[in-house]
Amino acid sequence: MNNSSVDYIRQHISSYQPHTLIILGSGLGNLGEKLQNPISLNYQDIPDFPRSTVQGHGGKLICGKLGEREVLCMQGRFHLYEGHKPQTIHQLFACFKELDIQELIVTNAAGSLNPDIAPGSLMLIKDHINFSGQNPLIGANDDKIGPRFPALNNAYDEEIRTRVKLLAQKHNIALSEGVYMMVLGPNFETPAEIRAFRILGADAVGMSTVPEVISAIHVGMKVLGISVITNYGAGMSNEQPSHEETLAQGQKASDELTKLISAYLTTKGEK
Ligand code: HPA
Repeated sequence: MNNSSVDYIRQHISSYQPHTLIILGSGLGNLGEKLQNPISLNYQDIPDFPRSTVQGHGGKLICGKLGEREVLCMQGRFHLYEGHKPQTIHQLFACFKELDIQELIVTNAAGSLNPDIAPGSLMLIKDHINFSGQNPLIGANDDKIGPRFPALNNAYDEEIRTRVKLLAQKHNIALSEGVYMMVLGPNFETPAEIRAFRILGADAVGMSTVPEVISAIHVGMKVLGISVITNYGAGMSNEQPSHEETLAQGQKASDELTKLISAYLTTKGEK
C-alpha cells in the first residue's frame, strides 16, 4: 500500500471525510452493511492494496455514515497467519493516517480465558499482551510518521473506555473489560497453553488486533478495542473451538456491538 492506494481511496470516497476507521473481526462483517449511503471498494481494485484470504472476511473498504458520523470500515483484515508481513499492516496505517484517520475502533473474535467472561458477550480491551513474536514496526523507522520507541501505556485510551462503559450501562449491553493476548495462529491453542495464558494475566486470546493497535499508536491514532467472545479457551469447556462457532457467535453478538459502536460515535465530540 502506498500513495496510489491513498489517491484511489480519496478519489472514490470524495464526498466523505472520515476520521474514524473501524476494523471488523470474524463474523462481524455485517456491521459494514449497517452503514448509510455506503461507498464500497473491493480490496482487489485498490492499487497496491493487500488481499484478504480468510473465510468470513469480505475484503472490502466501506465508507458511509454510522451513528451520524462518517466512518471508514475494513471488512476483512490482514492476519499474520495468512502470510502477511507485520510491516504490511503498518503500511496500511501510514496510509490511513495520510487519509486523516485519527481514531481506530478495532473489533475481533476471541476465546475467553476467564470463566466470568462468557461466549456471546463483549469484552472491552484494556490492554494487550503481544505473544505473536512479531512486530509491525520492525525495520527502519520514519520519524515523520512516528517515534522509534512508542509507549503503549495508554494504548486503549482510558477516557474512551470510560465513555464506552457508561454507554454500555445506559443501553443495557453486557460489557466486561480485560486483557487481550495475541497468538500467531492459525491453530487454536492447546489446553496447556490456555492454562499458561491465564497465569500470564490474559482474559481473552485471539489471532489479530495487536499489530493494528501498535501501528495505530505509532502513527498517532487513538484506539478503542472490543472483543466478541465466541468460545471458552481450549480445555475450559467440553466444546472444541472452531471457526464455524466463531462466525456463528460473532453474528449473534454483532447487533450489540453495532449498537454500542453507534452509540459511541453518536455521542462523540466533533472531530
Ligand atoms: N483462540 C484464538 N483465537 C480465537 C479463539 C480462540 O479460542 N476464538 C476466536 N478466535
